[in-house]
Amino acid sequence: MNPHTIRIPIADRFKGKVALVTGGTNGIGHAIALELLREGASVAVSCLPPDAEGGRAAFAATGFAPLIVAGDMSKEDFCRQLVADTVAKFGRLDYLVNNAFSFIAKGLDATRTDFLYSLEVGPLGFALMIQLASEHMKQVGGGAVVNVSSISSWVAQPNRWTYNMSKGAVAQLTRCAGLDLAPHNIRVNSVSPGWTWTREVEKAAGGDIAKYDPIWGQFHMLGRMCYPVEIAAPALFLLSNDASFITGTDLPVDGGYNGLGPEGLGQNTKLAGSK
Ligand SMILES: NC(=O)c1ccc[n+]([C@@H]2O[C@H](COP(=O)([O-])OP(=O)(O)OC[C@H]3O[C@@H](n4cnc5c(N)ncnc54)[C@H](O)[C@@H]3O)[C@@H](O)[C@H]2O)c1
Repeated sequence: MNPHTIRIPIADRFKGKVALVTGGTNGIGHAIALELLREGASVAVSCLPPDAEGGRAAFAATGFAPLIVAGDMSKEDFCRQLVADTVAKFGRLDYLVNNAFSFIAKGLDATRTDFLYSLEVGPLGFALMIQLASEHMKQVGGGAVVNVSSISSWVAQPNRWTYNMSKGAVAQLTRCAGLDLAPHNIRVNSVSPGWTWTREVEKAAGGDIAKYDPIWGQFHMLGRMCYPVEIAAPALFLLSNDASFITGTDLPVDGGYNGLGPEGLGQNTKLAGSK
């Protein structure tokens, strides 16, 4: 058993509460949804239609059956339906996790359509979801939002104008929404994961985690990559009352990626003190 994938839930921290996690059938969103369920929340998740059945099976294997609503977050009508279905099923809405994103990674070659889709699923979708969900949070006296951002919101990466620009916009959305929703007792924060073992990354590694973890892990001070549950725990912290005085900010969950200098972990330097 990989020790980085084990987490002991804090009993019933979210009992009686309702959470909506976009992109909650797979990867980081699935880990967040599962931990919320384990801590007592009622949960709705969205996903693209091809992911619905696999998502249902993955939750069933852990003994849970969240509401799964399939559709595309780039569509305003779907976002409205998702929030309406969640409230119709559970009667309230306390927490929103904006997680689904477009992985289109293009730069000089990006078309206007690429940019628009990245923005529509990403910051525009996140913004609309906050607008819609916060109306229901107001009715229960407050709530909390976590936007899943990325290390890509801070740094330049090759051929990634679409993705990094969209993640950069999430940072400003988090600040502005945090400010405007504070009077309603609704906190808005983000988490910024480093390289995390989810399906796209696994595909890029040809399924060989043992080979690529130490290679791509070198981008992080911890010398390894992240597992989805390691994003879930900080996300749940930001949603919980333990974070009652935290809003409008980002929590890097990046194994030290953002603090690493050009020398990396020091493998190629001969300066005193380096490895
Ligand atoms: N994996 C990483 O290394 C990494 C690093 C930093 C940030 N992130 C961020 O984490 C989040 C989740 O990524 P992941 O790697 O877990 O992805 P994933 O591919 O494992 O899962 C994505 C989920 O989002 C859903 N989804 C995707 N596009 C959608 C759309 N247009 N409409 C509705 N649902 C949609 C999918 O159906 C699925 O449920 C994203 O915001 C991503 O940018 C990932």
